Amino acid sequence: VIVHGVDAAQLGLADFYAGDPLDPLEVPAEFMDWRHATARQQSLLARRLTMSVGPRTALRYQERICGVVNFASLDYLGFARLREIADAQICALPEWGSGAAGVPLLTGMSEQHGGLEHELASLTGKSSAMLYSSGFAAAIGTCCALLRRGDVAICDDRTHMSWFDGIRMAGARLATFRHNDVASLAEVLERHEGARRVVIVDALYSMDGDFAPLERIVAVAKEHAVKIIVDEAHSVFADGPGGGGTISRLGLNGDVAVYMGTLSKALAMVGGFVAAAAPLVDYMRYYSHPYVFSGALPPALVAGTRRAVAIARTAEDRRRRLQENARYMRTQLAGLGLNIGNSESWIIPVIFGSRRDLLFEAAERLMRAGVYVVPVDFPAVPEDQVRLRVTVSAEHTRDDLDEGLNRIGDIVVPLLQ
Ligand SMILES: Cc1ncc(COP(=O)(O)O)c(C=O)c1O
Repeated sequence: VIVHGVDAAQLGLADFYAGDPLDPLEVPAEFMDWRHATARQQSLLARRLTMSVGPRTALRYQERICGVVNFASLDYLGFARLREIADAQICALPEWGSGAAGVPLLTGMSEQHGGLEHELASLTGKSSAMLYSSGFAAAIGTCCALLRRGDVAICDDRTHMSWFDGIRMAGARLATFRHNDVASLAEVLERHEGARRVVIVDALYSMDGDFAPLERIVAVAKEHAVKIIVDEAHSVFADGPGGGGTISRLGLNGDVAVYMGTLSKALAMVGGFVAAAAPLVDYMRYYSHPYVFSGALPPALVAGTRRAVAIARTAEDRRRRLQENARYMRTQLAGLGLNIGNSESWIIPVIFGSRRDLLFEAAERLMRAGVYVVPVDFPAVPEDQVRLRVTVSAEHTRDDLDEGLNRIGDIVVPLLQ
């Protein structure tokens, strides 16, 4: 027991301090106790799939293989099983080999990488783009290349962790404003008048499924002559005409200085990118350490990604199905009396407040009933807002959605009453 009188199994990472042993390579005893006491809850995380991602898949759970309806993957457009994308990788393999065997600035670039960067620049309406091996690396790399000690990075308080880590690595100061609150942003901008400042927001929030009020954020930032970085990880390819993201849907491409996106969600591939004006991207190629000092993506995988980008550019029908499925799921979940926060998208939280015990019980029972949803705990969300995160794909059929809704109705609704 970590805290006297409290059942350790009820604790989350926010509830105790894992002390620092003298040896930095020693695991804190408090963490080991917690890990042991919550083994059952933790076993719900990092499930191993036994087949490809899709609206219905299978995974290993407690020595069994369970078939599940999948509301946990971020395969928004349903590309994970698209034969054409797999074929593009397979075809590229004999020509391009298995890996890039080098960092991009020295030997890791190929015509495939250059071609994809060009296509991403065109997608985002920017004159240049650079590829990273992940979206996380793109966020950290952007901060480390552009921010210095004493600079102030002004972020929505729910901006993705990669930006907070990047700002810390750059040695810049982090100033947060209240989530999606433009008046709070204006206050923070005023408070830091005189410093070198930048505003960083997500277009679509990964845990809440609500969009940033980008038009108003752009207006306030402009009033203060501060530029904006937008993370489109969950919206690029899924939102906007031609998959250009929320920025394109709102016609703000010219108002956002740095457009960051990932290839690991709607495209179901891997890698991240940053798009901006060519001189800025060129500068970042020299100062962005996760780019300069890290191996480039395998060229055959990049070839597959290029195919995926090409398909996504004209996938209006998939984007429409995604919107319809997401709207149906939101309406039905809210109709069950569940708290879905301010979700407006394909990411739909079912918020449990502080009831971590119920959250894990719900996730476990849903898994047993053949519905895969992830429980999300601190630090991914505030400790009093733990939740199931339901994600929807264009490939879910109405039957898939109804099966999930019926099980959620049977299991989650009575638990939360
Ligand atoms: C908003 C946001 N930004 C960045 C990332 C990092 O992207 P990737 O998973 O491609 O590293 C994520 C992924 O979880 C995210 O949700």
